[in-house]
Amino acid sequence: MTEQLAAVEAALGAWVAPVGSTPPSLAEPMRYAVLDGGKRLRPLLVLAASQAVSGEPEAAMRAACAVELIHAYSLVHDDMPCMDNDVLRRGKPTVHVRYGQASAMLAGDALQALAFELLTPEGGLVPMAMQASLCRMLARAAGGQGMAGGQAIDLASVGLAISSEQLHEMHKLKTGALLLASVMMGAACGSPSAQAQAALSDYGAAMGLAFQVVDDILDVTADSQTLGKTAGKDAAQDKPTFVSLMGLQASRNYAQELLSQAQASLRHSQLPDTRALWALADKLVHRAF
Ligand code: IPE
Ligand code: IPE
Ligand code: MG
Ligand code: MG
Ligand code: MG
Repeated sequence: MTEQLAAVEAALGAWVAPVGSTPPSLAEPMRYAVLDGGKRLRPLLVLAASQAVSGEPEAAMRAACAVELIHAYSLVHDDMPCMDNDVLRRGKPTVHVRYGQASAMLAGDALQALAFELLTPEGGLVPMAMQASLCRMLARAAGGQGMAGGQAIDLASVGLAISSEQLHEMHKLKTGALLLASVMMGAACGSPSAQAQAALSDYGAAMGLAFQVVDDILDVTADSQTLGKTAGKDAAQDKPTFVSLMGLQASRNYAQELLSQAQASLRHSQLPDTRALWALADKLVHRAF
């Protein structure tokens, strides 16, 4: 995974607004938003899933970076004053604090477009049918039925006592969709059996939900220095979270239960090598930031 992480960093460094490709006033905030920070859990999930199904490496690296670009753009916009109004991200001032709101908005827009450009290279590097299905999966996970839809529910829920069902739905969309897509896009770089595909989908759904449960826990239990973003924001902004709804201990238990579900799914997959997926599930639930 250390090697894969280095490969992802190198690919992002090369693909995100290289010198001469983009007006400098846009290239700078784009690179600032993506490079130098971030755990890269989504790209690692893509690569781990692809590895499990012996997927095409070129397609997998492109998918890994495309997912990270959508994620990075979502963070840039999530932090803006009109949304969560955050000043710290990945241990640095947020993009709008550093470059202004107009540049932050544009950098997010451009990163989103770049994600789809990466998935559609010319010259037969990735088979056309694979390009199309990767684009479709990412578009669905990022749009109104995925991340953006979940963010809309998040904003509309401030200060409201929403039900557990509504909270699950919100988290499934705003965070879970992109995590699930990471796993399924990795799988789409190969040709898994129907059984393996269903098992990977269950794994991705459990991990997606677990991810936001842990994010909600860390917002309460960790400090800003460790997180690289402002701690305690959810309560300060009266956001409904797993912790506010179920309490801390029940949230921790729930994250563990989701981890067990994800592990069970991997066992059912009958894939020969799911070690990386197994390790990532563990890391994702037991992370400190
Ligand atoms: C934070 O995501 C935002 C959520 C979707 C909960 P990460 O915790 O993966 O953030 P980075 O990429 O490591 O900064
Ligand atoms: C963000 O959720 C989810 C997306 C960016 C899609 P949060 O608002 O909880 O993320 P953090 O805590 O700011 O990273
Ligand atoms: Mg938010
Ligand atoms: Mg936020
Ligand atoms: Mg959060």
